[in-house]
Amino acid sequence: MDYISRTEKQKIWDSLTEKRRVHTQGVLEKALEMAGIFGADADKVEVAVICHDVYRGRKDDELNALIDEFGIDERYKNNANLSHSKIACAMMKRDLGITDEDILNAVSYHTTGRRGMSVLEKIVFLADAIEKGRDYPGVDDIRKRAETDLDGACLMSLEGTIGFLKSQGFSEDEIDTDTIDARDDLIDKTL
Ligand SMILES: [Fe+2]
Ligand SMILES: [Fe+2]
Repeated sequence: MDYISRTEKQKIWDSLTEKRRVHTQGVLEKALEMAGIFGADADKVEVAVICHDVYRGRKDDELNALIDEFGIDERYKNNANLSHSKIACAMMKRDLGITDEDILNAVSYHTTGRRGMSVLEKIVFLADAIEKGRDYPGVDDIRKRAETDLDGACLMSLEGTIGFLKSQGFSEDEIDTDTIDARDDLIDKTL
């Protein structure tokens, strides 16, 4: 099913910087590969991935104004890392007419994860973290796990992110609750 027209799709690709386009292409390849393994709708994967980072790289002022415009939670102000996901989701609803909750959630939670993620959400979350352009300690272990175990690979990624943030001086209370909830949820599921 076509969730957006070819023209809209092209417009979004054209709006991405070269660097973001390469990343998005990498995410798309990885996400489609995982969709084949774990079972997810390729059209939903494509729309979510193409849109997931359209607001990545924008300045805080612009993002804060969009947060006001869309009535998004104030906690995302001055936090481009998280707000770009929420704004992309709101734009998809308003400007692209996307109503499919699974696609919207996959974009909205692609950075943090959340409790009770669907297969599509997990695939987009993980593909974003392990696409071929990503290079950080442990990424190959997560890639390997992602070939057979979606929950286990998501958990590895979340634990890696939380561990990294802690090493930067953040306590668990200061890390976005959705990330902590996503980890706790998967610990319960993978036990
Ligand atoms: Fe992102
Ligand atoms: Fe991304």
